[in-house]
Amino acid sequence: MQGNKIRNLISITDLSVDEIEGLIETANDIEKNPEKYQDACAHKQLATLFFEPSTRTRLSFESAMLSLGGQVLGFSSANSSSASKGESVSDTVRTVGNYADIIAMRHPKEGAPVIAAQRTVVPIINAGDGGHFHPTQTLTDLLTISRKKGRLSDMTIGLCGDLKFGRTVHSLIEATLRYKNIKYVLISPDELRLPDYMTDKLNEAGADYEEITSLEEAMPKLDILYMTRVQRERFFNEEDYVRLKDTYILTPEKLRNAKKDLVIMHPLPRVNEISVRVDDDERACYFYQTLCGKHIRMALILFLLGIKVKEA
Ligand code: CP
Repeated sequence: MQGNKIRNLISITDLSVDEIEGLIETANDIEKNPEKYQDACAHKQLATLFFEPSTRTRLSFESAMLSLGGQVLGFSSANSSSASKGESVSDTVRTVGNYADIIAMRHPKEGAPVIAAQRTVVPIINAGDGGHFHPTQTLTDLLTISRKKGRLSDMTIGLCGDLKFGRTVHSLIEATLRYKNIKYVLISPDELRLPDYMTDKLNEAGADYEEITSLEEAMPKLDILYMTRVQRERFFNEEDYVRLKDTYILTPEKLRNAKKDLVIMHPLPRVNEISVRVDDDERACYFYQTLCGKHIRMALILFLLGIKVKEA
């Protein structure tokens, strides 16, 4: 922490590369020495304000805080909060800032966490804002890649599926653009291509990327395959969703030409885009990712609260 300035995590670029490295180191220490951290957040409270559904993000945040000896409060849907009566995000967050030391919030509107951060004096963590960003999923993904590959540079990353609305994809690109020698293969139907504001970032950074529609064509090149779900909740039109939802289904047959040390990732939840027959492949890392999500969120809570854990 710099001085007493409140730090928020709205976009992954709110953290420097060195800070991300520090979080990964802490997460790895948490995995090895969980007892060292078990009382680190005693008497601290985390509020989880989820205006949109979640399994992994909300529960891993709550599990993370409980494993740090802290407490949790919050709501899991807008319907069970006063948002259903018309209360604004600003007023909700300003109120909850009186009850909790740190807030993780998910909201369907892009930019809602920025408004929240202006309205309270406790750290705000963006746990997903619409089709925009999902920085704690990216921390999860970076920890997974670092543990599986031993590095975050020098690799070809295939991003497949809904690249238009996929906030996890946008945040992962933003993060990995800061590492050396990353090549991107962007695999999607034309309708779900990466939005211009993201390809602008790739172009500005001089990134090596290609946009293709064939997963099979991409497969042999990839070190990481990041599958994503076509998200029904982001479509205005059910017909378009039905037409596009099964464009990519990863099967053992499609993996025949893949590298032996490919890392297959997915932020989850999945619907059809990865066959359950892939789950037993040793390259399938998507459930391992969910464990990494808990470790890195523990590290993030400590960091944003400015808590340093002493060596035992
Ligand atoms: N990866 C992810 O955000 O999952 P949830 O929607 O279940 O939180």
